[in-house]
Amino acid sequence: MLDRRGAELSERTIRVGLLGCGTVGAAVARILDAHADELALRAGCRLQVTRVSVRDLERRRDVPLPADAFTTDGGSIVDDPQIDVVCELLGGLEPARALVLRALANGKPVVTGNKELLANAGKDVFDAADASGQDLAFEAAVAGGVPLIRSLKESLVGERIQRILGIVNGTTNFILTEMSEHGSGFVDALTRAQALGYAEADPTADVEGFDAAAKCAILASIAFNTRVVAGDVYREGIADVTAQDIADAQRMGYVVKLLAIAELEDGAVSARVHPAMIPQAHPLASVRDAFNAVFVEGPNIGQLMFYGRGAGGDPTATAVVGDLVQVARNLVTGGRMIGCTCALDRRIRPMDDTRGQYYLNLHVEDRPGVLAEIAQEFGRNGVSIERVWQEGFGEEATLVFITHRAQEGAFQKTVQALRDLSSVRAVASLLRVEGEEG
Ligand SMILES: NC(=O)c1ccc[n+]([C@@H]2O[C@H](COP(=O)([O-])OP(=O)(O)OC[C@H]3O[C@@H](n4cnc5c(N)ncnc54)[C@H](OP(=O)(O)O)[C@@H]3O)[C@@H](O)[C@H]2O)c1
Repeated sequence: MLDRRGAELSERTIRVGLLGCGTVGAAVARILDAHADELALRAGCRLQVTRVSVRDLERRRDVPLPADAFTTDGGSIVDDPQIDVVCELLGGLEPARALVLRALANGKPVVTGNKELLANAGKDVFDAADASGQDLAFEAAVAGGVPLIRSLKESLVGERIQRILGIVNGTTNFILTEMSEHGSGFVDALTRAQALGYAEADPTADVEGFDAAAKCAILASIAFNTRVVAGDVYREGIADVTAQDIADAQRMGYVVKLLAIAELEDGAVSARVHPAMIPQAHPLASVRDAFNAVFVEGPNIGQLMFYGRGAGGDPTATAVVGDLVQVARNLVTGGRMIGCTCALDRRIRPMDDTRGQYYLNLHVEDRPGVLAEIAQEFGRNGVSIERVWQEGFGEEATLVFITHRAQEGAFQKTVQALRDLSSVRAVASLLRVEGEEG
């Protein structure tokens, strides 16, 4: 199958130690086997999985690997002098962190898809990679099969990225799509997502925005050349988004999405994850179901959108295999990928200092003077109103506001003051608006 050049190039075999053989790990093993000849042409060597660590040796796995390749002892793989590259696909912070650090200390490059590890212990693992002079590749950690990390790190190195706006969690996007297209409530949509395998039995990491926050931290770190950790990211999930919010948004020409937003302004970085209304005409509005999409903005490129399958064994495994080929090629040629890019120490802007646009729906008393009273609170806090209108009468009276861009802290103060007004019966709904004003 190989041409002459390929045959020459592939004399050496790079032995891969796989930590984890679940959804992604098993798909990686299958692709490395099924595409072995083509991959050898690109890598300049053969890639072979020789050892695999798992929790349960009895579990049946659809992988082209002999039974004696498996162990429950990940440490024996990272310490094995016969292993050239370690591919970490366990997930979670430990034992992944300890094993990755040990592999790097042993002089082995590492490929990982672990966003939790990078967003919480990125400094440790990048320092270890630098100390050992080895590659640490992680294309699969954000947006699964969408080739985003190396695009940001390498292809876009000539751009000064100003903003990243993305849908980076497929589970919540599926739930919001269900709510929006079928009028379901959050709980029903989540139950359907679980039945279809889009949501875990414990959906906390997805619906509370932890998964998206980890990805947001990684994207912000690369885009702005500074360390942003998961704890730096302001986070709100989608559990409080109601069918009414979605219906209101639709009526006004918006779609509700869980967005990860990272911005650089005056040298400071803001990073946040929260549900937001975006105009139906915005490209992110048409990203449905479990798909991911990330919008990257800069002065030279304008706007770029990366779109595709952010999860799933096969799509994610293609990203892992791409990294493995690059890392293997570097082992053969003596090169190295771009390492840690966090050279600067930028300030993280607190959420209260960020600026945004807001939608607010208030149940109010239906009597003269109420609008003026409410408008006064907006004015007092320096929040200017772009649009306001009344819906319903009497007991049903509702005032709907869309603000101009305002400071988050000032807007939150306004809402607090409105809650204290006797003319405001309830703050029925509050959502941020993104993608509308410059
Ligand atoms: N699934 C996706 O769509 C996706 C997308 C992007 C990134 N990722 C990332 O890729 C990584 C792997 O995800 P996955 O979906 O493949 O996970 P998974 O299906 O749960 O597989 C995890 C694998 O690691 C093994 N494992 C877990 N803890 C272990 C321990 N303490 N000791 C030894 N083995 C252990 C498990 O062994 P057993 O099989 O014996 O249980 C299993 O083989 C994660 O970091 C995840 O965030 C996944």
